[in-house]
Amino acid sequence: MSARVVLPTRLTGRFLLLSHNFCSPTTKPYKYTRMSTTLPHFASGEVVKGFGRGSKTLGTPTANLEQCVVDKLPADFKTGIYFGWAQVNDGPVYEQVTSIGWNPYFRNQTKSMETHVIHSFTEDFYGSNLKVILVGYIRDEMDFKGLEELKAAIANDIEVSKQELLRPEFRKYKTDEFFCQNPESLNNGKMNGNA
Ligand SMILES: Cc1cc2nc3c(=O)[nH]c(=O)nc-3n(C[C@H](O)[C@H](O)[C@H](O)COP(=O)(O)O)c2cc1C
Repeated sequence: MSARVVLPTRLTGRFLLLSHNFCSPTTKPYKYTRMSTTLPHFASGEVVKGFGRGSKTLGTPTANLEQCVVDKLPADFKTGIYFGWAQVNDGPVYEQVTSIGWNPYFRNQTKSMETHVIHSFTEDFYGSNLKVILVGYIRDEMDFKGLEELKAAIANDIEVSKQELLRPEFRKYKTDEFFCQNPESLNNGKMNGNA
């Protein structure tokens, strides 16, 4: 897969600002990485139960997408932390951060795709349909010395996501027609691809 770090000179000042603002003590500064072959990535599926650590242990609830959605990720799809947009059933479209991989801190045996929707929901939404568009890549999944470091990294990811989604090239996906489509029409509710 081709991955290219883009540091446009006209954004040098901004990059320095990002480096300053969006660097938790344990992760490298965020740098925009263009993944032209795999992003944007569109996925839709049912929300299933994970280990339940998101809310309880990390204070960041995550919605786990059903395994068939994870299994359909393209072979060259890089694991790591992504940002983009999400919608539960036919509700509003919110900002999101998604972790794809094996959660090295918890040493999971199964690859998962877990989305933190940046919104305070009053109830769990297991069994609901979740649509996500991944538009940008933040970093690799990492192991950490302790839980506080993982929590700090996730908090940083959320800030990066919010900031990056203000950019017009990412913001435009909030109103993508994908979010208007019936999940059943998306390949039996399990759509996966970047077409
Ligand atoms: C934005 C974000 C970043 C994450 N980064 C990491 C990471 O670097 N390393 C890791 O092991 N897990 C990472 N995770 C995954 C969490 O460990 C996982 O979502 C949490 O354990 C909840 O999983 P569960 O729903 O299966 O209980 C991240 C999750 C999110 C939402």
